[in-house]
Amino acid sequence: MATLTRDIDWAKRLLDDGSVVAIPTETVYGLAAKGTDPEALQKIFKTKGRPSNNPLILHFSDLTAMTPYIAEVSKEVRLLAAHFWPGPLTLLLPKTTAVPDMVTAGSQRVAVRVPNHPLTLALLHNLDYPLAAPSANRSGYISPTQPAHVAQQLGTRIPLILDGGACQQGLESTILGWENGQPTIYREGMITAHQLGAVLGDLPTAAHRQKVLVAPGMSSSHYAPVTQTLVSDNLPLTLESVQGKTIGLISLAKPYVGPHTLTKEIVLSTLGSLEEIAQRLYAAMYELDQADVTVIIIERAPNTGIGKAINDRLQRSAHRSESS
Ligand code: TXA
Ligand code: MG
Repeated sequence: MATLTRDIDWAKRLLDDGSVVAIPTETVYGLAAKGTDPEALQKIFKTKGRPSNNPLILHFSDLTAMTPYIAEVSKEVRLLAAHFWPGPLTLLLPKTTAVPDMVTAGSQRVAVRVPNHPLTLALLHNLDYPLAAPSANRSGYISPTQPAHVAQQLGTRIPLILDGGACQQGLESTILGWENGQPTIYREGMITAHQLGAVLGDLPTAAHRQKVLVAPGMSSSHYAPVTQTLVSDNLPLTLESVQGKTIGLISLAKPYVGPHTLTKEIVLSTLGSLEEIAQRLYAAMYELDQADVTVIIIERAPNTGIGKAINDRLQRSAHRSESS
């Protein structure tokens, strides 16, 4: 079973030796390995059961540490780095030969970010290589936002979980790249198009899902509980449609009042704060997926600001069960 510890020197020794280690970030926990070592990288794919054509994000202590790995640092990149790093923004940038092909699945662009978590930043400062890290869940399942979720998913397969407590933001980073000079969002996250546009002076457009084979994480059947999961725009109607099932409900702000019996209900934010909803969402999904319910219903968020990222994840969590 993996050891839970805050000892970054222990984590460093394991990583130096080519092992995988789970690390906290402000978004979700990552399954990290030495980003320059193909054998170590291979362990990430094997441990998660992740297809090798799904590329990995490289994590750095700061923009300066990135320079050997990215071919060009534009004015836009400097601006974004100054505004949002450390923080939940991943940039897709042209790579150098220092980045192994296994990191990018053969693409000439590498995904890079500086995570905002004190333990992981301290660890990165002590390393002379970047950490490749996807979310620390088995491929296709919900990303972990607490060390216990990592232990549940990967505890028997990894030696160590760096214990940084519950993740403060709770949704994976926003992914931004450029297509023919046009800033393009490949994955919605806590940093919104509006915030990026304010810094760039050019509002990013959303990448079309079908068009983008570059980001397999955008495909369906991701972030999904095992239990059938429905996203609801109209709670009375959705509850009507699941007659006879034992129901777990994730409400955004108001507890359910009405004729249906719920086996379990989790209210994410009684204040209706989208930040709090994002922070607590995955933990609620883990909890209900373990509870004795046959269907999970989650209320859709208002589709503005980070509500877009929340709804994006809800849509994907529902996909697998809808199609099977
Ligand atoms: O917040 C996050 O980004 C977390 C923490 C651990 O940093 N990481 C994370 O990693 O969510 P992962 O692997 O679960 O999702 C990364 C997404 C995937 O959909 C992957 O396909 C995409 O980023 N990606 C990575 N490198 C890419 C590349 N070179 N080109 C296009 N997409 C890429
Ligand atoms: Mg993931």
